[in-house]
Amino acid sequence: MAQPSSEIKTVGVVGAGTMGHGIAHVLLRSGYAVLLQDVSERYLQKGAERILSGLGRDVEKSRLTEEQRLKAVERLKTTTDIYSLAAAQFIIEAVTEDFKVKSDVFRALDEGGASEVIFASNTSSISITKLAAVTRRPTLFVGLHFFNPVAVMKLVEIVPGLQTSAHTLSIAKELANSLGKIPVRVNDFPGFISNRVLMPMINEAIYALMEGVAEAQAIDEVMKLGMSHPMGPLELADFIGLDVCLDIMKVLYEGFRESKYRPCPLLERMVNAGWLGRKTSKGFYEYKQGQTA
Ligand code: 3HC
Repeated sequence: MAQPSSEIKTVGVVGAGTMGHGIAHVLLRSGYAVLLQDVSERYLQKGAERILSGLGRDVEKSRLTEEQRLKAVERLKTTTDIYSLAAAQFIIEAVTEDFKVKSDVFRALDEGGASEVIFASNTSSISITKLAAVTRRPTLFVGLHFFNPVAVMKLVEIVPGLQTSAHTLSIAKELANSLGKIPVRVNDFPGFISNRVLMPMINEAIYALMEGVAEAQAIDEVMKLGMSHPMGPLELADFIGLDVCLDIMKVLYEGFRESKYRPCPLLERMVNAGWLGRKTSKGFYEYKQGQTA
């Protein structure tokens, strides 16, 4: 495992969901202390269980020794009090992909936290410049976009806002490197690179399904067998969450004002039905209850 960044000992993570717990897991296994915050004890408990299971898997796969695992577990603290994250030197937000929700989190962190703490958002598409502007420390604000499953995927998109200082950018890069990730710098445009390229492909696959070009399984097979994608676009949409895909398409559509980003009506209808993919056991495919992996 890579060495922790010298300036950072404790990292606050806001949100214990799929991305938040994954980010907390890789921070812990890389030697950081983590303060994991969410709005309810139930979410925190679920997130912590998934982190402990991930750390157990790291021992099975010889990525950690049993002693390192025990120390990592000791370094995890959970809390519902967002102000207690003031004890961290770096804070990563991984809450719902909604500007209002995220800006409320950053306003609270800004009120409660030390003025030199760096804030990072794991947003997958929202403007870093705009999020940074809700705080009184826009130079200490950066986008740090991880990929699901966080423990496995190598990429972190590093996104400076218009106001981000070179120092903040270099600390964020150092942190990503210390987690064994490969940071790639991209500029602050809707969807950055990853989702600007990925989501229109997923959206187009949903159009193809809606228009009856092929069945879901056939669409996925074409992309897996013909293009060597590890998952087909519809399977991947179920994995990411159809609500997340829709939110990102809306950010692209509103951000670029171009019809090529219009969310597919079938995607909207499925989200309205509550068919969000693996997390609700139904999306383009059906899953056993609780089958998230
Ligand atoms: N959570 C955590 N770990 C998982 C996992 C999950 N949901 N699914 C698989 N893994 C782990 C396994 O435990 C295994 O790790 P190990 O080293 O401990 O054995 C490793 O991944 C490989 O798993 P498997 O051998 O069982 O399965 P595959 O070889 O089929 O790989 C996969 C699974 C890595 C998920 C692969 O299918 C894949 O790469 N899929 C595409 C994922 C992708 O595109 N992610 C990006 C989504 S977009 C995003 O996150 C951005 C956001 O903004 C929308």
